[in-house]
Amino acid sequence: MFILGIDTSCDDTCVAVIKKGYGVLSNVVQTQVDLHGGYGGVVPELASREHLNNILPVVKEAVKKAGIHIRDIGAVAVTVGPGLMGSLLVGLNFAKALALGLDIPLIPVNHLEGHVLSVLLEESRPGFPYVVLTASGGHTCLYYVKAPKDYQLLGQTLDDAAGEAFDKVAKLMGLGYPGGRVIEELARNGEKGKIQFPKAFLSKGSMDFSFSGVKTSVALFYKKWSSLGNSQEMDGITLGDIAYAFQEAVVDVLVEKLFTAQRYTGAKDVVMAGGVACNGFLRARIQERAEEESLRSFFPSPQYCTDNGAMIALAGMYSLELGCKEDLYVDARARYPL
Ligand code: KG4
Ligand code: ZN
Repeated sequence: MFILGIDTSCDDTCVAVIKKGYGVLSNVVQTQVDLHGGYGGVVPELASREHLNNILPVVKEAVKKAGIHIRDIGAVAVTVGPGLMGSLLVGLNFAKALALGLDIPLIPVNHLEGHVLSVLLEESRPGFPYVVLTASGGHTCLYYVKAPKDYQLLGQTLDDAAGEAFDKVAKLMGLGYPGGRVIEELARNGEKGKIQFPKAFLSKGSMDFSFSGVKTSVALFYKKWSSLGNSQEMDGITLGDIAYAFQEAVVDVLVEKLFTAQRYTGAKDVVMAGGVACNGFLRARIQERAEEESLRSFFPSPQYCTDNGAMIALAGMYSLELGCKEDLYVDARARYPL
């Protein structure tokens, strides 16, 4: 059976076709980075209008690349939330029309479930149960995944998402949007230990996150650094050093909490997913730590870390298999805890 997966939860129009028991046949992402870049973040009204322009050509391209005909599709899986309401509605209503026209099931999917399961699109995949930390521009959540559809939320951010912190820090440093990759590149020229930003571990054993403190510290430090320039007080500190220290502060917290969750659950496999999991420094730190503790670590490839339709199709496939109801009348939900 072929399953079409659609995600328009944020600023990317994502459509994929997967084949049950075989894998991903196509995975098309039409990004809107150029449209929002100048604003330093996603402008919801512009995003939904752009999805409207993109959804039909992206669906057509995904079907064509999969080498099938649209009538071959057996089910449509679509993100119903969480996300930007205007953006979600574009994908959801398109999916409803398609399901109605083709007389096939419409499978509603939680975007977070897509990220939680995305690593299963890879050949090298964890066994159940596993712990997964999914971090992107919109969320930072830790789950214990006992089986598909059996998720336990262990912790989440109390304020900014990890990717959001990268984006906001990049914006205040005038580095553009999205910030994660730019900061990672800058940090490669930075030196460890020149500056320390606060790491919010919260109470002992806590699996929640908070990134607003480190963001404010970077903002204050950057202001001082910009005005003092090359003075002695700044001791030759470069923008790369600031990026390094910020990245390290975020990564240390993410790694620590992922392994706190591992200890808490006793899972043998740990997974890092979501857009922030593209970060090479973070991946290396998780790999090292897992090796030290004789555990296995897994990461989706970058195309399945950032938003994509394949993870939505996969989550939809599990829903179908486990007998979850199709629903043509489902509403979009801006907030939708998993
Ligand atoms: O999953 P995603 O594509 O979209 C959301 O659902 O938000 O994730 C995008 C987020 C952005 O905040 C971006 O800055 C972050 O992932 N990101 C990174 C890196 N690449 C993308 N953060 C840190 N390091 C990276 N290399
Ligand atoms: Zn996402």
